[in-house]
Amino acid sequence: MSSHDRPVSGHPQDGTAIDWAQLGPLLERGAALQTPLYEQAAGWLRDLLIPDVASDTGAVAGAVAGEDAVGRILDVGSGPGVVSCLLARAFPAAEVCAVDANEALLERARARAARLGLDGRIHTHLAEVPYGLDSLGGGDLIWSSRALHHVGDQRGAVAALAGHLRPGGLLAVSEGGLAPRFLPRDIGIGRPGLQSRLDAAAEDWFTEMRAALPDTTGAIEDWPAFLADAGLRTPRTRSFLLDLPAPLSADARHYIQANLTRAMELYGDQLDPDDLSTLARLTDPYDPAGITRRPDAFLLAAQTVHTARAQ
Ligand SMILES: C[S@@+](CC[C@H](N)C(=O)[O-])C[C@H]1O[C@@H](n2cnc3c(N)ncnc32)[C@H](O)[C@@H]1O
Repeated sequence: MSSHDRPVSGHPQDGTAIDWAQLGPLLERGAALQTPLYEQAAGWLRDLLIPDVASDTGAVAGAVAGEDAVGRILDVGSGPGVVSCLLARAFPAAEVCAVDANEALLERARARAARLGLDGRIHTHLAEVPYGLDSLGGGDLIWSSRALHHVGDQRGAVAALAGHLRPGGLLAVSEGGLAPRFLPRDIGIGRPGLQSRLDAAAEDWFTEMRAALPDTTGAIEDWPAFLADAGLRTPRTRSFLLDLPAPLSADARHYIQANLTRAMELYGDQLDPDDLSTLARLTDPYDPAGITRRPDAFLLAAQTVHTARAQ
């Protein structure tokens, strides 16, 4: 079987396999909440790709000089297409292709694009990276957020994406940052410092998840080095902040509640009984100490973006 006709297979069916279709609503809600963060990142990518725009006063009928430089964007591992739509808005001359290994998520991406009136400029493509991108014609910008860590050979995946850049194109990989924070250290129930213990359990789960991926490699997760190894130039890294202070919207509260519920399912067995009962209270919609009711919940997160350019 050649690298181009490898079937879309999803992830291995073990304890760390992810049901992406079932996660769709949570992914979409989470990415939508992160809109301010992604908008900052998209603005930075615009400055890198169309540097004259900031000083350019010659906007004509909605077009900006240099805008045509970005005619094609690939959003690889797009999930439900929230960022695909934001990129379409940030680069009005571009057509955006949302690429994902899960058809149900691509269906969500198409529905979202249609709701936002962007369906003429966003299309979808089913592929399991690093395979299945040859027919797309490359990209002036290839964006991939929080997807490549689900590929066994991350360095190889970066190299594969770099190979699909058009001349002068930019590869932007959003991986890493800071674990989100959403509660004070002492929340009045259970042992203080719950979030740090959740982070530690999540790290162990993540390591197991990566170890179970097909063709997994143990490379140091040095994303700028992966970009350099792929022959790309002018590396840049920046991190962007999501800062939603208390009082949180109901939407954000439900997002955190769903994440905590998922944490219990994925790595609850790593936590002690005291922390498990705290989580049970936090996720209880009727408990006044629960995340949907307490006044002190906030959402603070940082996401890192690594970029480099083709010659
Ligand atoms: C955590 S979600 C991120 C979604 C979106 N990029 C975002 O930042 O909101 C990871 C996505 O990567 C996709 N994915 C995982 N492995 C993939 C692969 N080998 N090829 C293409 N997509 C993949 C999943 O289906 C899922 O949609």
